[in-house]
Amino acid sequence: MAEQKFSISKWEEPDRINSELENLRKVPIYEISEDEHKKVLEYFDVKCSKSKAIATDAKKYVPGGVQHNLAFNYPFPLVVDKAEGAYLYDIDGNRYIDFLQAGGPTILGSNYPSIREEVKKHLDKCGPVTGLLHESEILLAKEINKHMPAVEMFRMLGSGTESVMAALRIARIETKNKRIIKMGGAYHGWSDQMVYGLKIPGSRQFLESHGIPGKCYSLTDEVRPNDLDMLERMLFLNRMRGGTAGVIVEPVGPESGTRPISYDYNKEAMRLAHKYGALFIFDEVVTGFRVGLSGAQGYFGLEPDLTIFGKIIAGGYPAAGGVGGKREYAGLMAAGVATGKHRAYVGGTLAANPLSSLAGYLTIKEIERTNACVKAGMAGEKLAQGLRVLVGKYNLPYVVYSQGSIVHLECTGAMSFDASSMFLLKSLSSLLSNKAIMTERKVSMELMGAAYMANGIVTLAGSRLYTSLADTEDVIDDALQRFENVFSNVVSTNKGLKPKALEKYLKNID
Ligand SMILES: Cc1ncc(COP(=O)(O)O)c(C=O)c1O
Repeated sequence: MAEQKFSISKWEEPDRINSELENLRKVPIYEISEDEHKKVLEYFDVKCSKSKAIATDAKKYVPGGVQHNLAFNYPFPLVVDKAEGAYLYDIDGNRYIDFLQAGGPTILGSNYPSIREEVKKHLDKCGPVTGLLHESEILLAKEINKHMPAVEMFRMLGSGTESVMAALRIARIETKNKRIIKMGGAYHGWSDQMVYGLKIPGSRQFLESHGIPGKCYSLTDEVRPNDLDMLERMLFLNRMRGGTAGVIVEPVGPESGTRPISYDYNKEAMRLAHKYGALFIFDEVVTGFRVGLSGAQGYFGLEPDLTIFGKIIAGGYPAAGGVGGKREYAGLMAAGVATGKHRAYVGGTLAANPLSSLAGYLTIKEIERTNACVKAGMAGEKLAQGLRVLVGKYNLPYVVYSQGSIVHLECTGAMSFDASSMFLLKSLSSLLSNKAIMTERKVSMELMGAAYMANGIVTLAGSRLYTSLADTEDVIDDALQRFENVFSNVVSTNKGLKPKALEKYLKNID
């Protein structure tokens, strides 16, 4: 039998998942009982008192009290003091199984010892930054190319956000076209032109684009996830309004697969992009070196024109991202006077600092040596299977699926609303009519996240779980036991269907 190379053993087509999600949105919210809610709050109050004091102080000095979008906020963020393998420890000494994995990059498990030791040695010798060339930068670029042949050249930058900005610039120079198409709901960082259609497909500028002048996103379009017809219609329409420079996708679907797509979507989207003269940009910030060493591009068997990398490229060490691709496109970042071509200007004082480059190079070598992608995938699939059994046992309407080491646990369907339309007014009216319900379901999702936390499990926003090499069978069994503690206290509520119920709920928690 051929050796498994990817974290995903079998791709699940979106039909079952979408119909279960649709059902989930139609039934009232199932969440922990009021008694259990009180116990959760008590856990935070009694067992997390040091965190509480720091979080209270943080509110005075840090906007929103946290620096990171993924830091869990309800009832207050826990302060993490120690990270080790599969576990995080808060400042009060409580231990948690870590399914956040810093948002994905720590696929070897947190604070991996051999890499930490090499980083320390490097710091002793060279410090974190010199501003000049360091050998590790080339080692990293070669290592990426070894696994992803389409990434012939790689330029390291400070973050995924910056790398997307660079890719869009390259696409516009290369194609001389103007517009960028993304899938609704997808996240490609927080640059002006990409904070558009976040979270809810069809939401365009209405949810998050405040403070961004309309002109910044006037050349960005969003299309419904997994809808190739809409993509082609948009590409066609764009021919008459400046042309499409790039089609950018998250390979397993928007928000790391929260909106699942069919296996063939990416290849077809690439074919359509090329048919209309656009570059195909694969945003592998989460999937690169997680779905497999050759990334999602290896898994789906395609060679994108440009690939975006994020935090994994430095193994979770500070500030890292990068953009790479075919020589003729990536090379545009070095064009200019010498070549006579326009240059896509990129930069960054800390970009490709030797510390991050070395950590990234060593991480990829270690992922290869330990077969981490496949092992993390096995852990993810075991977790998803166990969660499905629990959901059945307690007769809950929850939806569980995994894409290898990316596990989705949807308890409220808050993330599955869709207002996509080619027509602005239709999108807007669909959004407005569902807004209160979406908010109520989101509040409940956060409550479930807090319940998992109080039972020793850290998730991403209460609905996504990343597994790692450190997640042994024992860790997953332990996690399932903890999930069972939560699920056994879940009850059906009268929330989640009518805006009125939301009003009542908000009044109660006041
Ligand atoms: C798919 C995707 N693209 C881009 C980004 C932005 O990366 P960064 O946070 O490094 O700016 C993220 C961040 O999580 C992401 O998930």
